[in-house]
This record gives sequence, C-alpha cells and structure tokens, in this order.
Amino acid sequence: MKVILTSDHAGVTIRNEVIKLLEEMDIAYEDTGCDCSTSVDYPDYAFPAAERVASGEFDRGIFICGTGIGMSISANKVKGIRCALTHDVFSAKATRQHNNSNVLAMGERVIGPSLAREITKVWLETEFEGGRHQNRVGKIDAYENK
Ligand code: RB5
Repeated sequence: MKVILTSDHAGVTIRNEVIKLLEEMDIAYEDTGCDCSTSVDYPDYAFPAAERVASGEFDRGIFICGTGIGMSISANKVKGIRCALTHDVFSAKATRQHNNSNVLAMGERVIGPSLAREITKVWLETEFEGGRHQNRVGKIDAYENK
C-alpha cells in the first residue's frame, strides 16, 4: 500500500504522529504537507494530493487540517475520491467496510494525536466488505460519471 499524506498549518502535530505510525507499520508514504512556517490554504494541499489518489498513483490519502472539514470538502470534489472525515474508531472501521473510503480526513483542533493514531491504524487495516456495499458505492460512481 502507498499512502499520500498532507496537512495545512493546523494539522502538523497529527501529521507527524501519522508519519511515525506509517513508519512503524512499514507503509510507504509521501508527505506533501506544508512546511508550516506560515498560514496556508487547505485546498492548495487537498486538491493535488487527492488527484494523486484518484489517478491510482497512491492507494490511500490521509489529510489533516484544523477541523478536517476543509480538507474533506475539498478532497470530495475530486472525481473518484471517497473522503471520510472521521474522529472515532467505530467510524474509521465502518467507512472502510461500507464506503471503501480512499481518503481519511481528521481535525487536529478536534482530536488529539493518540486518538488520531488509533483511527489511522484501524482505517489502514480494515478491508472493504464489498457485496451490497459495492452496489451502493457503485451508485456514487455512476452519479459522479453521468
Ligand atoms: C485553518 O485556520 C482552518 O480553517 C483549517 O485548518 C480547517 O479547519 C478548515 O476547515
């Protein structure tokens, strides 16, 4: 699995925690987040990273901002992206099983780094269940492609 990671200036602490986790899990990643010396605009980071997931260059994306909301709204504008804004472990598992989410968004002003690490681990390890859920995800694809 290859993961692309990004954040704005409000997501640096969680981004660094996710980097530690990816290294511990021996998962290949590219970090395209801001250098964070100044305030930046989250769409400038979300769109290029999401496009690289949608193109197939990366299997998954993990996007962090203050609330996770700006990153998730932006990511979900990119065709082929199913970005889940997730702040609990139950939803992290469910969104992989049911929605086959390919981008995880989290907000550093909402949760701390320890919970973000747990959420990320579960999200990375959980498989899509397919079946009736594939049918539902297929309807999203069909809407997007019409
Ligand atoms: C930055 O101040 C903040 O607006 C951004 O990180 C994010 O929370 C937007 O949704």
